[in-house]
Amino acid sequence: LDNGLALTPPMGWLAWERYRCIVDCETYPNDCVSEQLFRRTADLLVSEGYADVGYEYIIIDDCWLAHERGSDGRLQPDPQRFPSGIKALADYIHSLGLKFGIYEDFGNYTCAGYPGVVGHMKTDAQTFADWEVDYVKLDGCYSEPEDMDTGYPEFGSYLNETGRPMIYSCSWPVYQEFAGIEPNFTALKQYCNLWRNYVDIDDSWEEVEIIMDYFAEKQDSIAEHAGPGHWNDPDMLIIGNYGLSYDQSKVQMAIWAILAAPLLMSTALRDVKPEYKDILQNKAILAINQDELGIQGRRVNNTGLIDIWTRPISPEFDGEYSYAVAFVSRRIDGYPYLKSVTLAEIGLTSACGYEFQDLYSPNTQPQILGPDSVLTVRINPSGVVFYRATIVGAR
Ligand code: DGJ
Repeated sequence: LDNGLALTPPMGWLAWERYRCIVDCETYPNDCVSEQLFRRTADLLVSEGYADVGYEYIIIDDCWLAHERGSDGRLQPDPQRFPSGIKALADYIHSLGLKFGIYEDFGNYTCAGYPGVVGHMKTDAQTFADWEVDYVKLDGCYSEPEDMDTGYPEFGSYLNETGRPMIYSCSWPVYQEFAGIEPNFTALKQYCNLWRNYVDIDDSWEEVEIIMDYFAEKQDSIAEHAGPGHWNDPDMLIIGNYGLSYDQSKVQMAIWAILAAPLLMSTALRDVKPEYKDILQNKAILAINQDELGIQGRRVNNTGLIDIWTRPISPEFDGEYSYAVAFVSRRIDGYPYLKSVTLAEIGLTSACGYEFQDLYSPNTQPQILGPDSVLTVRINPSGVVFYRATIVGAR
């Protein structure tokens, strides 16, 4: 969507994976979907250093609404959990130098059963602008996937008419995918800044594998549609939660960087252990995710339970790209296995050669390798070795 926003993949925090639809603030005073949760998370985004490295959006997901619209037909938040109202929350988040996102649904109801935008699209877009929202996620429960080709653009046109720049996150392809409809990516790129392609992520390695495999198997039809202002979205980062080991967390971060994915953490920022925080705040990896060329990477080899992914990145030299290169082990047996390839085999063919820097071991000496050099890598079970391969001559 050409609205000047999301020229690199959006970065921030989104409530859903970790906080779901917790509405019982008595049993879960620190976890329920409430203004406290978003204020506290905004504070932590700043105080724990996430804002400094680029995480910017604090985004509400489902279950913020009251069950009924107000007497004026407008959306209103749950009065117990958001007693100060949404505008006050947005103001607070803005006062910290951050941006504020909200959630609604294209259908009659949100997935959790709160009022959807049907019949109120124009008013709801205006309400979001009045509240100074910066990002809108529009889900697709309780609607017909066939209607999305016209309905999502219609809501987008009302957002645009408000004159307030808002990132528009669409869920339209995932609902069509499951209804057996091939999504129209030309339209998606025109009307949305990002879109969810596939399943909701849960807190496990299996889910990360399922999503990586989907993006690899579908890469010929989806990767080319990513670029500045319009991104495929493999869903939230779950690093820092219960499900991923340290090595598996490194994999998610590396592959989301390769995929030019939105980086929306969904975790309790207060509880993230230091080594996991280091993954989330690894500047060299964030720079790959945010690379200005905005080219989505691909899986280029998956033999012997080792997947190799590459992504063309800047700087370019003599008409050739630099690359991010990730070796991901799908093994779960025993010890770190070895994998050897020549660079040419994985598409790094420039005769200038490449300087390989290991992004998770920044203190190791970079190696200069040419297209015929053999790169041998030792990868932990369900782990990753992740390189920036900067083309020689460009530095
Ligand atoms: C389905 C979406 O895909 C999720 O990300 C989340 O927004 C839930 N709905 C909320 O009900």
